[in-house]
Amino acid sequence: KRVVILISGGGSNMVRLVESMTGDHPARPVLVIANSAGAGGLARAADLGVPTAVVDHRPHKGDRPAFEAELIRVIDAAAPDILCLAGFMRVLTEGFTARYAGRMLNIHPSLLPKYRGLDTHARAIAAADTEAGCTVHEVTAELDGGPILGQARVPLRADDTPATLAARVLEQEHRLYPMVLRRFAEGDRSRLDLTTA
Ligand code: GRF
Repeated sequence: KRVVILISGGGSNMVRLVESMTGDHPARPVLVIANSAGAGGLARAADLGVPTAVVDHRPHKGDRPAFEAELIRVIDAAAPDILCLAGFMRVLTEGFTARYAGRMLNIHPSLLPKYRGLDTHARAIAAADTEAGCTVHEVTAELDGGPILGQARVPLRADDTPATLAARVLEQEHRLYPMVLRRFAEGDRSRLDLTTA
């Protein structure tokens, strides 16, 4: 299975996904795409020997379809079986999500359906939740709304700040996403629930 990974920043999730696709894993990373040349993950992908590309969204400011048309051209040239959004921070239109329906995954730093959108950790703290976590889901037109494939939970601590919670959740993202990708690549759509101590 050919996997294309989309990133916007440091790409720590991308690194774990790439590192997981070895040996008898049915998938291999064929391309990492960033929506800006400044994305730190591009150098990390190159260090791991994965081809990279940049499709900058800024030249298409205010013209999302034009940005997505360029993105689709680069993605489809790599002929992916699976598309992984990993810290990808652009909202995608219904047309784009429909094109890759059933083969596009995303990781979101909350226990969906709670806290779709941004600032998930601050919102969990503000709500004085007892736990937080992350979710891997299939991407549909509904923002952060597709079928859930896996979740990992962490306890919230009284002294947590958004930064300390984000760090603890990110550790679980790095466990969860590779496990869910492998199951997905093997055709297993059953939900995986991880819980830490
Ligand atoms: C992190 O906030 C993570 O929770 C979310 O995307 C952001 C960057 O992740 N999934 P990465 O290091 O670029 O994978």
